Amino acid sequence: MPREQLGVCAEGNLHSIYLMFNANEGVETDLRPCIANVAQYIYELTDQYADSAFNGFLAVGANYWDSLYPSARPAQLKPFPAMNADNRDAPALEYDLFVHIRCDRFDILHLVANEITQMLEGLVDLVDEERGFRFMDSRDLTGFVDGTENPKGRSRQEVALIGDEDAPFKSGSYIHVQKFAHNLSKWNRLPQKKQEDIMGRTKQDNIEYESADKPLTSHIKRVNLKDSDGKSMEILRQSMPYGSVKEQGLMFISNCRNSNNFEKMLESMVHGDSHGNHDHLLHFTKALTGSSFFAPSLDFMLNKAG
Ligand code: HEM
Repeated sequence: MPREQLGVCAEGNLHSIYLMFNANEGVETDLRPCIANVAQYIYELTDQYADSAFNGFLAVGANYWDSLYPSARPAQLKPFPAMNADNRDAPALEYDLFVHIRCDRFDILHLVANEITQMLEGLVDLVDEERGFRFMDSRDLTGFVDGTENPKGRSRQEVALIGDEDAPFKSGSYIHVQKFAHNLSKWNRLPQKKQEDIMGRTKQDNIEYESADKPLTSHIKRVNLKDSDGKSMEILRQSMPYGSVKEQGLMFISNCRNSNNFEKMLESMVHGDSHGNHDHLLHFTKALTGSSFFAPSLDFMLNKAG
């Protein structure tokens, strides 16, 4: 069984750093062993800093995959499904590499982010960087608890990791990232009951609305989808609040064994149902980026290193 990168399914942390890189021209022969080293390093640090729950993963951009690993491609790896309706925009902004590291100690994260960037020096450019943090009791900056309905325990692996359906990519994961910037002054002017109607849950106590009371335009109504067999379509969200007073919001991160579940949820938020019931959360937040990656197993990267 190929070893998964441990950050894909890890439980939440207090801090995170997100590094987005683009590769220089023609560096692939050197980059393959280098990113295998980075992934191995992250893997080993998970043991070394177990006390502070360090974890992470490295993922390769959908548009860069064929340059880095021309011999085989994960079956469902495709560019970010950009979409738009009225002023609800989900743009694509792709990167070649994504390094996602998290820890309950920020000093360790900072140190490791510098080290990883140094390991990649000369091969890639750092084009974006964000730092995420736990806000209150795992709330989004809107004040609502985020992550409650995430898969728990072993079902995190079941939802996020490829199994036998795509054997060469077993233990890998499709990663979608959207940096959402919130309009908090607009949001904070909304009465609490209206905010709760938009989420479909109560704010303070985080209680899900009864099914009949959930507006069709509420966030959880829009993203709670079933496939044609009536089975829940799930993703593992690893999102965290990020930013500063000037610009802040949610680094939304979806990890899944397929790329379809995320795309269908996003479609349901942006385009809505056949009656045009879209997700009213999108009136208060704006996606600045949209990137599609694949996080291969650690062993895939080590095997392709040499
Ligand atoms: C649930 C916030 C974007 C998928 C939730 C919940 C909150 C939340 C507060 C309820 C608690 C929970 O179960 O976690 C946000 C914010 C977003 C955002 C602030 C962006 C600014 C997205 C996107 C997707 C998504 C882009 C997928 C395309 C989900 C799913 C659930 C959920 C699947 C669980 C629904 C359920 O089964 O009840 N989100 N979300 N979210 N969100 Fe989001």
